[in-house]
Amino acid sequence: MLKGKHIILGITGSIAAYKSAVLCRLLVGAGAEVKVVMTPLAKQFITPLTMATLSKNPILVDFFNPENGEWNSHVKLGLWADCYLIAPATANTLAKMATGVADNLLLTTYLSARCPVAVAPAMDLDMYAHRATQRNLARLRENGVNIIAPAAGELASGLVGNGRMAEPQDIVEAVAALLAEKKKPTLEGKHFLVTAGATIEAIDPVRYISNHSSGKMGYAVAEELTSRGARVTLISGRTALDTPKGVERVDVLSAEDMYQACVVRFDEADGAVMCAAVADYTPQSVAQEKIKKGEGDMAIALKRTRDIAAELGQRKGQRILVGFAMETQNEQANAEDKLRRKNFDFIVLNSLRVEGAGFRGDTNVVSLIDAAERKDLPLMSKREVAKHIVDKIEEKL
Ligand code: PMT
Repeated sequence: MLKGKHIILGITGSIAAYKSAVLCRLLVGAGAEVKVVMTPLAKQFITPLTMATLSKNPILVDFFNPENGEWNSHVKLGLWADCYLIAPATANTLAKMATGVADNLLLTTYLSARCPVAVAPAMDLDMYAHRATQRNLARLRENGVNIIAPAAGELASGLVGNGRMAEPQDIVEAVAALLAEKKKPTLEGKHFLVTAGATIEAIDPVRYISNHSSGKMGYAVAEELTSRGARVTLISGRTALDTPKGVERVDVLSAEDMYQACVVRFDEADGAVMCAAVADYTPQSVAQEKIKKGEGDMAIALKRTRDIAAELGQRKGQRILVGFAMETQNEQANAEDKLRRKNFDFIVLNSLRVEGAGFRGDTNVVSLIDAAERKDLPLMSKREVAKHIVDKIEEKL
């Protein structure tokens, strides 16, 4: 369950920080990628060197690197994570989290994180039992934070009672359960087509017309739908990506191949997400032999391809149909026009004018637009964008 997961391990200034080393080791051993954020005080309890060695990543403490001024972006870190675990969490940090104080990197990352957050409190028994601490924990619970309850036992003060940070193995199990919970098969029994990647329109046996789509966005949608229990048929243009686990993949080359592959499968599907960058034009004829260069310029006559999304839009009935719009100007108007013309339930707009959006990269910046509203999302990973898209599909279903 933790294999490949991105986990931020937050460490605060508590004697229990020595257990964070074992915790980090267990998380890494379970296949997670771990980045460690420490409060300045935490460094006095366990060295950054120890944590950097165990996590295999640099330790983050300050808002910027004092040596080169490089900014440690808590926003990017928050978006990167599948889970933010703060262990140990002191009474002081819990109080700040409960009230939204943001005076160190660990706290600003908490405020930016969109993933599940878990805290493992560690403190003396009277501090833990104090009404202020209990009030803060109750508020954090209300805010969706998962509390991994401390155990009873001998405390650093010599007193015996409740307040010992949970054992590392128990914390790892709690995090695994938390991530498993997110994977409830809410789309079990549903079947989706997803188109992804670029189509290829042959000019001759050597040359073709295509575009910059890598397939990453569509593959992320396929992966997210599958993780929620849906059956997914991925109609894929050419990409270098591996097929996501559990997905049925149908490889196609041209826009016409993609049209045929989609149309025959749509009837038995519950919906389709049209993420592929499909050629709008294709050569009128494909030369059988390599075209030899002549003296002068040359022109290739093109004809229109069939619009797959528009065809599915006409046939859709009660099915869900999601479109994409890749624009370079008049973004909103063009996207709304496609939404109506192709009969999409909603459209995902991305613009080449926005940094971090569109082709090839691992991130995107999109707006989800339906007949009623437009929701603008900030820069995030394509997998995170896919989650928002699938959340909206679930709403529509
Ligand atoms: O693959 P990546 O590198 O991760 O990049 C992702 C992406 C930029 C390709 C993706 O986010 C995206 O925007 N895909 C749609 C790009 C596009 O060509 O949009 P469009 O505005 O030309 O087409 C509008 C919609 O109609 C799209 O849903 C498209 O799949 C569909 N269409 C278009 C033409 C056609 N003949 N048939 C179609 O189904």
